[in-house]
Amino acid sequence: MERNGTWTRRDFVRAGSCAGAVVLLGSSRARGLGRWVAAPRGSAPPVVDRLAVRVVVDNAQDALQRSARVGNVEVERVGMIMEPDLGRQVVSQFGLGYHLESRRGDETRNFLLDFGPTAQSELENLDLFKIDTAAVDALIMSHGHFDHFGGLMPLLERDRAKMRRDLPLYVGGEDAFCYRWFERPNGERKSAGVVSRSALDGAHVRLVMADQAAVIAGQAFTTGAIPRNSFEQVLPSTKVEVGVRGGAGCDASHFTPEERAGKIVFDRFPGEHATCFNVKDRGLVILSSCSHCGIINTIRQAQAVSGQTKVHAVMGGFHLSVAPQDYVAQTVQALKDIDPDYVIPMHCSGATFTWMVRDALPGKLIMSYTGTRFAFGG
Ligand SMILES: [Fe+2]
Ligand SMILES: [Fe+2]
Repeated sequence: MERNGTWTRRDFVRAGSCAGAVVLLGSSRARGLGRWVAAPRGSAPPVVDRLAVRVVVDNAQDALQRSARVGNVEVERVGMIMEPDLGRQVVSQFGLGYHLESRRGDETRNFLLDFGPTAQSELENLDLFKIDTAAVDALIMSHGHFDHFGGLMPLLERDRAKMRRDLPLYVGGEDAFCYRWFERPNGERKSAGVVSRSALDGAHVRLVMADQAAVIAGQAFTTGAIPRNSFEQVLPSTKVEVGVRGGAGCDASHFTPEERAGKIVFDRFPGEHATCFNVKDRGLVILSSCSHCGIINTIRQAQAVSGQTKVHAVMGGFHLSVAPQDYVAQTVQALKDIDPDYVIPMHCSGATFTWMVRDALPGKLIMSYTGTRFAFGG
């Protein structure tokens, strides 16, 4: 049962066997917004033997960094790209995209989590890193900002025909499909994009609503919606437009009356979710993407739904580059209390956070760049 906004291990939602027990959410379907399947409940999340995380797209690259073993993590750097020719280089852009490969016994699973901001970065880097999209078992989108989904439709347009027939796309809630906006202090707004549900339907992608914790392809799990139980708060400047126009947008019936009817309102990111693995003899590896709802809230939700308190690594965009210094310090102190083995800031984490982690959590900071591949576990 739901307790304080989290799920016990017994109630953990399992999506790996989705095909046999799908649930259609009537409100979305009735309004012609495409079909949802909701993940059925099942047992606790699995333990995997090994996890490799390839950073397909991030803000920056350092081609001079050498591969090394940091503690018990293998860190492989992409270095200079010399082949097939010098005219093709890693593309770094403001955004995030990952390729995840996990192993449990003799079974391997592949995931793409977020897709960078453009076709240019996502597709070129997938090719340069020799990632076989035909082997991908599931797609996962963390939230509905263009810097995380921009490469999704171009990927499907290029590779859908060779990908698995029943390819699922996990999102954390209806708001994944809302029009998003960034707003400057002077009130000027710029679009942060919208994911076309009809285009996804056209690509025969199976939409899975993981608004509660769910196992993905038998090896990963998503946190589901993340309760807000700490000092953290969604930082200003992000807005959401609730409703449908031009054949895209989100179903207003999922939102409060105040948020409905085409209004552009403060974005609470109700459906932002994180992807996680429980790695044997190591603990949780938690992959956040933008952490609008707070990286501490995210970690606590991953611990609560999995029953695993040990955090091996937390990585991703922590959305602290625009946060006040005392807020960043509070976050670092809370991280120190959680005591992960490693902290790997990316994308929107910010230099202040990175420097504070280096000083406050000695030996735990690992730098990440576009192309870096981290291997966790034996
Ligand atoms: Fe974002
Ligand atoms: Fe982002």
